[in-house]
Amino acid sequence: MSAKMTVPFFNYPRVYTDDRDAFLSIFDEVGKRGAFILQKDLREFEAALAQYTGAKYAMGVANATDGLEFGWMAIGMRPGDEVIFSSHTMLATAAAVKTAGGVPVPVELGADNLIDPEAVEAAITPRTVGIMPTQLNGRTCEMDRIMAIAAKYRLFVVEDAAQALGSKFKGKHAGTFGNASAISFFPAKVLGCLGDGGGFLTNDYTIADKAWQLHDHGRDAEGEVRSWGRNSRLDNLQAAFLLHRLKTYDQVVARRRAVAAIYQARLGDMPELQLPPAPDADPRHFDVYQNYELQADRRDDLKEHLRVNGIGTLIQWGGKAVHQWERLGFQIKLPKTERFFARCIMLPMNVFVSDDEVHYICDQVRSFYHG
Ligand SMILES: Cc1ncc(COP(=O)(O)O)c(C=O)c1O
Repeated sequence: MSAKMTVPFFNYPRVYTDDRDAFLSIFDEVGKRGAFILQKDLREFEAALAQYTGAKYAMGVANATDGLEFGWMAIGMRPGDEVIFSSHTMLATAAAVKTAGGVPVPVELGADNLIDPEAVEAAITPRTVGIMPTQLNGRTCEMDRIMAIAAKYRLFVVEDAAQALGSKFKGKHAGTFGNASAISFFPAKVLGCLGDGGGFLTNDYTIADKAWQLHDHGRDAEGEVRSWGRNSRLDNLQAAFLLHRLKTYDQVVARRRAVAAIYQARLGDMPELQLPPAPDADPRHFDVYQNYELQADRRDDLKEHLRVNGIGTLIQWGGKAVHQWERLGFQIKLPKTERFFARCIMLPMNVFVSDDEVHYICDQVRSFYHG
């Protein structure tokens, strides 16, 4: 057994310190230009994001939650309109529907732990206007099935791609299947900035135009006021940081996939665990491993064993699915999702963990079950 190590779940200072010189020179260069709001760095980042994802239009926003809300507002959501989402997601998915005036309708996860297309179809009512798949943990849902349901019932699709920049299904990027989507640049995201930040994607000019107004006080790109809006712009400085980080993004994704491959090789034989799919398990999927979320027998004891041995883990979102937060008023039971939340745990997954640390984590997981 290897010597004790300390492996935090996520090392926030290293987001900055690992690339400090580059960040400082960007800060200095942008600062000297006084280029703080809606400047060329933002325009360049938006163009790079559109090019990277293949989306026709990409716009910086203050955070992904706003972007998701703008998606529903831009399609013209009316009070009482229902949108179906997987309860295995962050609160923000449902909150975006709610704050846009709609009714979020939670459904079960499927065998892949993402939204279950059959549950989606079963939840459709005359008031349903849309589906909101979450491309969770860096994996894209089976979007052909989701889009087929959307076409059959004439529903809008706004993808929560907060965790999925670069993730693909059948070669197409997360965030480019539906009417609109949003990506998060929260610091712990695969592409994180030094604060809050988000990206809004769409292939539809009318939606892009409307979302633009929503994020800049109702003004269009020429400054003409065309509607009510608010301020949800991505800081130009954050955009400059993101533009810099996007240049090495593919290497970051490759490293995360390599970490996932080690977890798979070392833990894949354990009956006590259900691991996420391995990087090359299904050629239709390209996963970016925003998180490494697995299900484990005796989950809480495992978490404690890892903590005592210096390893940080996370039980996502306070250990509850969205519908389980009583004060939000959902009157529904989703047994599969609730079972998932009783068993799920996330192991360190980022570019800061070394191979030795990943092996140490695997040693500790194995020793917990097998002594
Ligand atoms: C699945 C999901 N949706 C939405 C969000 C919200 O993103 P932001 O913090 O940029 O608003 C997050 C952020 O963690 C997320 O993980």
